[in-house]
Amino acid sequence: MLKLKGSIKISGDKSISHRALIFASLSTGKVKISNLLESDDVMRTLNILKELGIKIVKEKTQWTVYGNGTGGYLQPSQVLDCGNSGTTSRLMMGAVSSNPINCTFIGDNSLSKRSMSRLSIFLEKMGAEIKLTKKDFLPLHINGDINLIPMEHVMQKASAQVKSAIILAALNLRGKTRIIEKRNTRDHTERLMRYLKINFKKKILSKSSTSIELNGPYEIKPRDIIVASDPSSAAFFIVGALIIPKSMITLKNIALNKSRTAFIDVLKKMGGKIKVKKTKTISGEDVGNIQVSYSLLNAIEVKASSSPYLIDEYPILSIAASQAKGVTVMKGLSELRHKESDRIKSITKNLSKIGFKVISKKDDISIKGSNELQVIDQKKIKTYGDHRIAMSFAILSLLYKNKLIIDDESCISISYPDFKKHLKKLSTH
Ligand code: S3P
Repeated sequence: MLKLKGSIKISGDKSISHRALIFASLSTGKVKISNLLESDDVMRTLNILKELGIKIVKEKTQWTVYGNGTGGYLQPSQVLDCGNSGTTSRLMMGAVSSNPINCTFIGDNSLSKRSMSRLSIFLEKMGAEIKLTKKDFLPLHINGDINLIPMEHVMQKASAQVKSAIILAALNLRGKTRIIEKRNTRDHTERLMRYLKINFKKKILSKSSTSIELNGPYEIKPRDIIVASDPSSAAFFIVGALIIPKSMITLKNIALNKSRTAFIDVLKKMGGKIKVKKTKTISGEDVGNIQVSYSLLNAIEVKASSSPYLIDEYPILSIAASQAKGVTVMKGLSELRHKESDRIKSITKNLSKIGFKVISKKDDISIKGSNELQVIDQKKIKTYGDHRIAMSFAILSLLYKNKLIIDDESCISISYPDFKKHLKKLSTH
């Protein structure tokens, strides 16, 4: 039987890559970016920045962004196409809103069904003029304004994208902006701001809540950025090595940001043999190597309070749960309904089709798994155009001797164009 063996460097992190490009564009000069993830989503952000007058060139493997300062975006002559990328749409809406330009944002079918009012309500309160389709969706028009009002925002819903978008708008405003997060989310924006020496205050209000205070406008001095590798992409191979007998792999250069590695704690609690070793800090992010070997997994309960830190890993955690003895319950997944697909439905339908007992009740999923591999006939897996569903089931398919036929693998390039190449490198018989 095929197993996973060896060592690879995972591609650049998607969240950090978007932010590296945007912050470089707001700097007052030339910024070199290394290990940028060249996926469809990140290229959407890059092309939109070009539309806004930012010169960006690639030499060999490195990208150079010629920043134009905060407030330096020019009037685009075309609509800004975000494709499938939620992060591009939210972050760029925030970034353009405090520039005196008019922008139209569009996206593909999936993105056009995802809520934009979750961000526009904050920008509108500051004075931005925004016209949404059916009050919530793309296409949308923003009339940006340098005189938006700096103010306090209280975020009830956990969203790193919304937090980051408000921060990006605030960088160009004169005065104090305060953002209170009732539930903490991933903190790449704050880490990059510290690395770029952007002066802001972050206060811990309680175990799960923080405030961020900015006092703009800012001048961001150019500083080269190296993007750490993506833990969410690493998660596919980590679970692969845990569930495929005789596997043992090492993944290098992975961002070990605590707001992203909660899935490792979950997998360890399930009995996963995973060793994490920090090697260095690059551009504000801790990175290190992760060693994983085949393990017999047990079911656990995953609490709702961890959901903002596991948000992109539930699909691959569901695959781990299917191979764990007992019933794994994952709670508080309401945000999964608003991702690239309704991921509660995508996970439940596909696992059920293979023969697993999966129950989804409102925001919870329970999966009855087993350490013993069942023999199955060929099954067709529907990705719903969702890259993380495609990769999760591609990993499970390895166990079933490729009997799972993924209907559309093209969506994988949204976040991890080198997935298949890396998987081939790690696969041996
Ligand atoms: C992201 C934040 C998360 C995550 C997405 C990337 C980011 O979304 O699901 O893939 O880069 O800020 P939310 O903040 O909307 O939960």
